[in-house]
Amino acid sequence: ETPVIVAIDGPSGTGKSSTSKAVAAKLGLSYLDTGAQYRAMTWWMLSNGIDVDNAAEVATAADKPTIVSGTDPSAPTITVDGTDAAGPIRTQEVTAAVSAVSAVPEVRARLVELQRSAAAAAPNGIVVEGRDIGTTVLPDATVKIFLTASAQARAARRNGELNGKEAADLAATQAALVKRDAADSGRKTSPLAKADDAIEVDTTDLTLDQVIECIVTLIEEKR
Ligand code: C5P
Repeated sequence: ETPVIVAIDGPSGTGKSSTSKAVAAKLGLSYLDTGAQYRAMTWWMLSNGIDVDNAAEVATAADKPTIVSGTDPSAPTITVDGTDAAGPIRTQEVTAAVSAVSAVPEVRARLVELQRSAAAAAPNGIVVEGRDIGTTVLPDATVKIFLTASAQARAARRNGELNGKEAADLAATQAALVKRDAADSGRKTSPLAKADDAIEVDTTDLTLDQVIECIVTLIEEKR
């Protein structure tokens, strides 16, 4: 059997990560969270005194950190220069800065290379989640999914994930999310976009299990 490559894109809060991990686990595929890599790059920049709003400074630093992603869907990992970065990449500081860092072409070139190598190395295939996987990173993917949901549903899910840790009110979460999506969709280099051949799944009124089932079925039809 040839490895199956699954691209899952969409804005924040559509359930991309939970869905992608579960689909990969069910089908015995590897899993890659490309958002975690952009966050890891951003965390390194912030930790090393790089001005994230200075694109030239970010571009020069882009090849410095060593970012390694573990692709087991039941225990995905991410390290930066050998240090576990899973916690620090989820802070509000990183979330607020990540769109600026990910808009820099040198950052994207570096991470896209890592992403393509991970896909090529996956023995049975891989589920890769992000914003530009179907359009840019893996244009020949076996199956391309574009997840959407209303801004309200996405903010509610994101607040649920924060679990009171960084208690934010729903309106603030929604505003931050809409702002990040606008930046990600509006940037010049491979913006958040649905590939022409991607299948759009609106998750607003679906449970996580329903979304997983829907995507597993789509993959099984194609492989
Ligand atoms: O998926 P997550 O919300 O963790 O992604 C964080 C950020 O990383 C996004 O808001 C976007 O700026 C960037 N990103 C990207 N391209 C990808 C994945 C994420 O630009 N393929």
